[in-house]
Amino acid sequence: MPARRKGTIGILTAGGDCPGLNAVIRGVAKAAMHHGMRVVGVQDGFRGLVENRLVPIDDNMVSGILTQGGTFLGSSRDKPHKMRVDGEIRDMTEFAVRTYKRNKLDCLVCLGGNGTQKNAYRLHQKGGINVLTLPKTIDNDIAETDITFGFDSAMSIATEAIDRLHTTATSHHRIIVCEVMGHDAGWLCLGAGIAGGADVILIPEIPYSVEAIVRSITARRQAGKRFSIIAVAEGITPHDVGASPPTSTPARKGKPRRKDAAPARVHDDIPGVETLIYEPVASRLAREIQRATSIEARVTSLGHVQRGGTPTAFDRLLCTRLGTKAVDLLEQGRFNVMVAIRGTECVPVPLSKVAGVKRTVPLDHPWIRTARLVGTCLGDA
Ligand code: F6P
Repeated sequence: MPARRKGTIGILTAGGDCPGLNAVIRGVAKAAMHHGMRVVGVQDGFRGLVENRLVPIDDNMVSGILTQGGTFLGSSRDKPHKMRVDGEIRDMTEFAVRTYKRNKLDCLVCLGGNGTQKNAYRLHQKGGINVLTLPKTIDNDIAETDITFGFDSAMSIATEAIDRLHTTATSHHRIIVCEVMGHDAGWLCLGAGIAGGADVILIPEIPYSVEAIVRSITARRQAGKRFSIIAVAEGITPHDVGASPPTSTPARKGKPRRKDAAPARVHDDIPGVETLIYEPVASRLAREIQRATSIEARVTSLGHVQRGGTPTAFDRLLCTRLGTKAVDLLEQGRFNVMVAIRGTECVPVPLSKVAGVKRTVPLDHPWIRTARLVGTCLGDA
């Protein structure tokens, strides 16, 4: 006998994509169907919600997608309360809420990073709708969870890239500066840098000085090592800008940036055809190091490669656990929480504790000590 219908859940993916999104959608959808819930997918993140672009999801649609990168629903960085419509920025919250009500949703499950956590919480607070979120990002910078899905896959990709750079840097006796994503947090660069055995690792949490890097490369050379790999996080800060606070900090909005600090990505504005939204920061650093050491320096920016392809086994398992736990919570009527990983458990945490808080690498984090103990230069004195 078919299970009794137990409500309808919507699911959307927002912000930058990452490996594991499809695995979570599958986990949510299969568990929801198991419980007799109806599932609909919202296309292209919050824009699809505002524009009422929903598709029913059935078992066939989520079959075979566990290993696929990206998100079959599409994603966008649109925010309901500040959306570009006909060339103007408008508050479209009421349209998002209208879609929710028109489709008789009981909860909207939002898969996303820090921006998505805030947008979902805002929709709950201002629009009165039920939301439940899951922590997605290769940056690993969401508060209240030990890890985010997508991080392990991106770290594996970046590590493999650093491995490959090693052999070519060794053959040609070069310095290779490898730029790693991560936004304002150093988790991805630090993790991949340690795993890949980078000689210098620069992260936003530790302001660097070129002199310290040059000293370390010179010492390597004097010890007979004729190559160096420098892993650089895209959000690095020059030494004199001042250290970031060592624990979870409020999101960057409004923080003054020095003119020569790493450029932020600006997604809110259309930059115009002459300007790219983002250009790698590693080139300037490589030039400075080459000038100071007289060793040939090359730059590799890993960019979106880190967000592509199939999730690791670790992420597939994590995604399936998070997705199914989300449905367990919905079954119990738990809304307006994010499903977090704490130790070995998936636990709900109130969205109020997550939204607007960014988790950067604490300066006393064990990974930092580990890196120092194996002789890695972190760019500070
Ligand atoms: O949040 C994931 C991430 O890949 C960051 O590491 C990076 O700063 C940003 O997204 C890039 O986003 P986009 O592809 O929209 O420029």
